[in-house]
Order: sequence, then structure tokens, then C-alpha cells
Amino acid sequence: MISSVLLAAAAALGAVAAPIEERATVLTGQYTCATSGDYTLCQNQWGSANGVGSQNSTLVSTSGTDISWTTTYTWANNENDVKTYANVLNNNVLGVTLASITSLPTTWDWSYTSESSGLRADVSYDMWLGTSSTGTAASSTSSYEIMVWLSGLGGIEPVGSLLTSSVSIDGYTWNLWSGTNSNWEVYSFIPATSGTSITSFSTNLLPFFTYLVTNHGVSTSLYLNAIQTGTEAFTGTASLDISTFSVALN
Ligand SMILES: *[C@@H]1O[C@H](CO)[C@@H](O)[C@H](O)[C@H]1NC(C)=O
Repeated sequence: MISSVLLAAAAALGAVAAPIEERATVLTGQYTCATSGDYTLCQNQWGSANGVGSQNSTLVSTSGTDISWTTTYTWANNENDVKTYANVLNNNVLGVTLASITSLPTTWDWSYTSESSGLRADVSYDMWLGTSSTGTAASSTSSYEIMVWLSGLGGIEPVGSLLTSSVSIDGYTWNLWSGTNSNWEVYSFIPATSGTSITSFSTNLLPFFTYLVTNHGVSTSLYLNAIQTGTEAFTGTASLDISTFSVALN
């Protein structure tokens, strides 16, 4: 179910000048989405059956390549299972081969406006490579899922096992994990210092892909199918504020 909230309903007051209205779209359903500008925000509560709780996500605004959004959730039970991945997808940053990409500039500024003690959640990029130019995230043509975690709280771990410690990319040090999921391989770059949260991230994402091409045989003829960013919630209660996110394709 999609509902809209009027943040400024000056019209009701009978103001003389035309009212300025700002609309935020609030999503409450399991798989509901909202599109604005370059982006689609989705609730993606794919694992909610493994827990008890709820989540609501709000598309605040889009402007050019920027989006601002929030999500609020509370989840209990099965602390090692992901309940949801509230995320945004840039609908224009996809459909090209890795070989044809010059850069993938991105900016992400975020904070927890509230956070329960012992919260188990990540804040992450989830990027997809596949064999079809029109393939989507987590599909039959997916080859690789590449995660970059800006935060992982409460002792949660990525899919698989630790492959390489202390990989330097974009001025940060990461631990690289690998594993498999369904028909694709998963690589996850995690801040090497446990508990670190990178709350202001402004960089180029291409070096993460280039590292995997150079070191793990990822083919540059694969297509970029999706760059999603959001939060995987395991257990706990939190409100996450993404004040600005952007990603572009050059
Ligand atoms: C999400 O919205 C529903 C419906 O308004 C509400 O019952 C629920 O408490 C909300 N959940 C959170 C975590 O805010």
C-alpha cells in the first residue's frame, strides 16, 4: 500500500499565494516501491517471514542524481537472518558492460537517527553483474553480487567466509568475503576495522570491480545489472536517514 503525506498543506489555510507543497511517499507493504527522478525506492522485505516486526520507508525527495530517503524498522527473532533490504536503485546506472565503464562516482551521507542497543544491521551497496544487458538483481542471469558495507553492526557477517584481509580501495581498508548464493557468486567488501561506520562516503565504485577483475577473474564483458544501496536489517529497531545518495555512470 502506498500512501502520500502532505508535509505542507498551506492550501487548506486559504493562503493568497500558490502554496508550496512537498510530497513524501511512505511505503508500508512487503514489496512496495516508489519511483521518482532517476531512482526507485523499494521496501524489499524478502525475509520478513523469518522474523516478527515491521518496516516503513519514505522517499523524501529526488533532484538530479541525488535522492534523500529514510527507513524505520523493528525486527525480532532469528538474529542471523536478514529480514529486509530497503533500498534504492538508480534506473539509469545499468545495462552496460564493465569494459565500457569509465567511472561510477557516488556520494552517500547517512546516519541513524535512532538505534536500539545491540542493533544487527548493515548499510550497504549491493551491485549486480550478469550475462544479459537487461538482467536484474538476483535473477537467473546474475553472475556476481558485489556488496560494499559502509557499516555492519552487532557482529553480523556477510555470505561465505573471509577470503582476503586488508584490501586497500579508495583510501579505505576492507576485508573481502566470498561465497555463493543461488546461481551467483557473492563478494563482500567489509570495513577491515570491525564496527567502523563510514557515514560520509564520496568516491568512485569502479575500483571495487577492477579489483575483482584483476584478482578473481571477473569478466569485463559482464553487464552491470544494478547498483542498489540500502540497509539489511537482521534484528533490532532503528531509523536510518539517507540525507543524500547519488551514483552516476560515466
Ligand atoms: C509501519 O507502519 C505501520 C502502518 O502505519 C505501523 O503499524 C507500524 O508500526 C510502522 N512500523 C514502524 C517500524 O514504524
